[in-house]
Amino acid sequence: MPAALPDPNLLLIDDEPANIALLQAIFQRAGYRRVKGFTDPAEALAVAAVSAPDLVLLDLNMPRIDGYEVTRRLRETQPPGSFLPILILTADISSRSRQRALAGGATDFLTKPFDNTEVLQRCRNFLETRALHMALQDQNARLEEIVRRRTHDLEQTLAELRATQAMQVEQERMRALGEMSDGIADDFNNQLTAMLGYSDLLLLNDAQMLSNKILTRRYLENIRTAAQESSAIVGRLKKFCRPRATGDVFLPLNLSKLVQESATLTQPRWRGQARAGGATITVRLDLQSAPDVLGNAAELREVVANLVFNAVDAMPEGGTITLRTRRTDSGRVCLEVADTGIGMSQETRRRCLEPFFTTKHEAGKGLGLSMVYGVVKRHDGELNIHTAPGDGATISICLPAVEPVAIASAPEGATPRSRRSLRVLLVEDDPAVREAVSEYLRCDSHEVSTAVTGREGLEKFVEGNFDLVVTDLALEELNGEGLATAIREHDAAVPIILVTGYTDLVPREGRFNAVLHKPLVPGELWRAIAQVTAEGATLSEPQLVVL
Ligand SMILES: Nc1ncnc2c1ncn2[C@@H]1O[C@H](COP(=O)(O)OP(=O)(O)OP(=O)(O)O)[C@@H](O)[C@H]1O
Ligand SMILES: [Mg+2]
Repeated sequence: MPAALPDPNLLLIDDEPANIALLQAIFQRAGYRRVKGFTDPAEALAVAAVSAPDLVLLDLNMPRIDGYEVTRRLRETQPPGSFLPILILTADISSRSRQRALAGGATDFLTKPFDNTEVLQRCRNFLETRALHMALQDQNARLEEIVRRRTHDLEQTLAELRATQAMQVEQERMRALGEMSDGIADDFNNQLTAMLGYSDLLLLNDAQMLSNKILTRRYLENIRTAAQESSAIVGRLKKFCRPRATGDVFLPLNLSKLVQESATLTQPRWRGQARAGGATITVRLDLQSAPDVLGNAAELREVVANLVFNAVDAMPEGGTITLRTRRTDSGRVCLEVADTGIGMSQETRRRCLEPFFTTKHEAGKGLGLSMVYGVVKRHDGELNIHTAPGDGATISICLPAVEPVAIASAPEGATPRSRRSLRVLLVEDDPAVREAVSEYLRCDSHEVSTAVTGREGLEKFVEGNFDLVVTDLALEELNGEGLATAIREHDAAVPIILVTGYTDLVPREGRFNAVLHKPLVPGELWRAIAQVTAEGATLSEPQLVVL
């Protein structure tokens, strides 16, 4: 059944009223109800602008506005892609005029005098074409809407998938941390046993014990050693679980040192867990000296941990894991984790980097290697896998090396002390640390003023007259970096020492004369003060003294 417009709107434009009357009669007799005739083209154009005609019958030769101009103006108002039939009413016109009319947008011609049947049949055909065109446009719009909605749904699903993936990666991190925490808690308890035990011994029978200076000193030394070991454990743990929210902190780092730390961190898994399952796993370190790479230490530690976990899983009967670092001829630094385990089939090798691909069923999420790959790519690195079934696997990661940065280290030997008494501003929010560091400073014969927040620190600095500032990094209101920047605006020369627990976040250049890591001991602080206040010491040389 042919498509039809329900009640088509017809426009007749001819300066000859007799022609209009004739055409109106033809159409009305054929049942068309909306047929409007105009002898004035301007009036017709005004009506067309508001009543959207479905078909226009148009004379060419008219005074003032001719048929060509009417065609042009009608076409101008039509939305792109629409189809409005414009039929030109002609007596016998030249082929040049016809071409001009067609080029200007006319659809066809009706020759005067009119043949009633031909007029009706032609118009019916064009109205049908218009109806089909409109139906097609309508369908296209509906299809576009469906595509738009589907795309929106897909985008939403993709965003949800990404969020789930990020969550899974985070959970994976926490799981790895959980696996390590048992071993770490054990190490911690051992150190706490020593500290509590020796201090109890000293306190229980204090008069007697404290008079034995040799024994007291030995006990105190044992407590100190245990505290130092605890601080090393905290350091390792903090390095592992520092959240990623701090953004991309890429600093020069020594890959061999990082591998060594990771080997220690993952020890509970390859030593404890493997042994509990009756297998023995040996970890061999083959670490060459190589230039630093620019990277995020926490992320790279996770990379090594994941590769080691995979190697452990691949050796249920035990075996050897080799952690190797080397420098390549192309100036890159490579890290390799090789195992003597079951290796991978071709299919596994091909798919192992895909997120959620695992051959471990419930025991694996399939996220380890995809996370590794993501981190390596972010570091501008390359990942290669050499493996064959039954022949172990070697995963190598190559990162671009950086030129070594000149970092002055503190001289070894006796702790130097300051030669003069300084007025020191100490900014630290933790009361215990504030008290301890104040005491360290007083023992080095300095005068100490303290502030709790960065803002208070700045106010005191502006009011006072200080020779040295010692500040924490994580402070309320204004952090250590902001404080140092503000202080530098008042006094470009005053030495500023930063004391921080965030080892990976220390700025590389700029505002600090020295950076000291928590837990801080008196000797380190005194040494740093002596260095930064020594004659000739400036901010730019050395820029950073890492003790
Ligand atoms: N060293 C390896 N030896 C043999 N197969 C490996 C090794 N490393 C990875 N694979 C294979 O690649 C797959 C994907 O590893 P991936 O680390 O991404 O996930 P997973 O270890 O299965 O799970 P998850 O790491 O999330 O706990 C593993 O299931 C395993 O089949
Ligand atoms: Mg894994």
